[in-house]
Amino acid sequence: MMDQALACARENHERYLNDLLDYLTIPSVSAQPEHARDVRMAALWLAEQLHMIGMAAELMETGGHPVVYGEWKSQHTHASTVLIYGHYDVQPAEPFELWHSDAFKPVIRDGKIFARGADDNKGQHLAHIKAVESYLKCAGTLPVNVKFLIEGEEEIGSAHLSDFVASHTELLACDCVMISDGALFAPGQPSITYGLRGLLGFEMTVRALERDVHSGHYGGNVQNPALALAQLLAQVKDDQGRVVIPGFYDGVRTLSASERAEIARLPWTGDDAAHETGATQAFGDPEFTANERKGARPTFEVNGLWSGYTGPGSKTIIPATAHAKITCRMVPNQQPEQIYVHIASFLKEHTPGGVTLELNPGRSSPASLISLDTSEVQAAVRAAEATWGKRPVFELEGGSIPVVHDFLTHLNRPIVLLGFGLPDDNIHSPNEKYAVACYEKGIEASIRFLAELGNA
Ligand code: BES
Ligand code: MN
Repeated sequence: MMDQALACARENHERYLNDLLDYLTIPSVSAQPEHARDVRMAALWLAEQLHMIGMAAELMETGGHPVVYGEWKSQHTHASTVLIYGHYDVQPAEPFELWHSDAFKPVIRDGKIFARGADDNKGQHLAHIKAVESYLKCAGTLPVNVKFLIEGEEEIGSAHLSDFVASHTELLACDCVMISDGALFAPGQPSITYGLRGLLGFEMTVRALERDVHSGHYGGNVQNPALALAQLLAQVKDDQGRVVIPGFYDGVRTLSASERAEIARLPWTGDDAAHETGATQAFGDPEFTANERKGARPTFEVNGLWSGYTGPGSKTIIPATAHAKITCRMVPNQQPEQIYVHIASFLKEHTPGGVTLELNPGRSSPASLISLDTSEVQAAVRAAEATWGKRPVFELEGGSIPVVHDFLTHLNRPIVLLGFGLPDDNIHSPNEKYAVACYEKGIEASIRFLAELGNA
C-alpha cells in the first residue's frame, strides 16, 4: 500500500505543486480585519481539497476564524487514528517593499517557492493532505484513520481553538497527534521537536499629557512619555541580557546534565544566530548556550514601539502618549499568568514620575514539553530516516504553537512534531520560501509515517 502511495506522489508531483501554488494566492492574514473574507476563502479552499480527495470535511465555527475539520475512517474497527493539525492563516506580509516578488503571487526561483505561508504553514499541512490523497487515489485506502484539524487563528494566538478543543474531545479523539509546523535542523538533517515555548503578550501605554503640545512652550516643564517609556524598558534587562524582574524566571526547569550534553551536540551557536539575522554580534545570557537560550530560557521582547510624530520632516511637539507591544516567551513549567503579575508590578514600581502606565494583557499560552518515549515518535524517527537518510535529532524549539498545550491537557495523547521546512525559510519575514524538495520530502515522510503507524 505504501509503495503505491509513494509512486502516486511521484506521478502527481506537478499537480500537487500547482495545488500548493493555488493555495498560496489566498492572502489569509488572520491579524488583519480587511482579510477576513480571504481567511474564510482559504478555509473553503481546504475543505474542497479534502472533499476532492475523498474525505468528509466541513467548516466549523469557533467565534473567530473557522476551523476546517476532515476525516477518513477505515473499515477495520481496530485501525488506529491520527489527528493531523496545521494552520491555514498566515502572518501579515508587510513590509511589502522588501519582497522580491509579490507575497501572494507565488513564484518558483531556484527550486524554491516564494510566498507568504509557503513554509508557515500551508506547504507543510498540504504535504500531509497530499500524502492522504496519494493513498486514497492509488491504493484506495489508508493504513490508519485520519482526522485533519486545520485552524485559522494560529498566527494570532489560537484564541478560540483552546475552547474548541476542550468542547470537542470526542470529535478529536485519536491515538496520536502529528504536527508539521517547523523545520529540519539543517538541509538533509531531520529534527523532532520535544519542546515549544509559550507566549505572554501585553501592551503598554505611557500617558504624560492630555494632548500633543508645543515642545518649546512646555519643554522642560513636563515629562516626555517616549523618554519615560524608554527609561522604564531600559530597566528590564541588564547589559548581559538577563531579565532583572524579580520572579521572571520562576518555575524554569533546570536542564539535567545529560539533556544539556544532548543539546550541546546540535551545531548551532550564538554566532550562527548573529550571522543568520545580520546582527553585529550574538547577545544573550552568558551562563547558557545558544540552544539553551532558545529552547529553555524565557525572554522579554519589544515587538513594537511608537510615540509622537513619525512622518516626513519634523514636528516640534511633546507627544501625549507612548506605546509598546511586548511579548515574553515562556518555557516549560512556567505559569504565564503568575509571571505576568511579577512583570506588571515591576513595571508599575519603576514607572518614572510625571506619567501614568496602563497595561493591557493579551491572551497567554503555556509552553509544552513532549515525551519522546512513545511508539509514535519511534514511528516518526523511522519515517524520517527512510525519507532523508539520516536519523532525526531532537530539539527544544523557541517558537510557540499554542494548541499543543491544549492537546496535552484535553486529548492526553502522544504528539509528534516533525517539521518539513528549512531554518532559513524566512517565516514571518519578507521573502518567505519553501523548497519544492521540502514539499516532496514532506509528502514522502507523511506517507511513510502513516504506514509505520498502520504497522504498529
Ligand atoms: N510555525 C510557527 C512556530 C514555530 C516557529 C515552530 C519556529 C517551530 C519553529 C508558528 O506559526 C508561529 O509563528 N507561532 C507563533 C504563535 C504565537 C502567535 C502565539 C509564534 O511562535 O510567534
Ligand atoms: Mn507562524
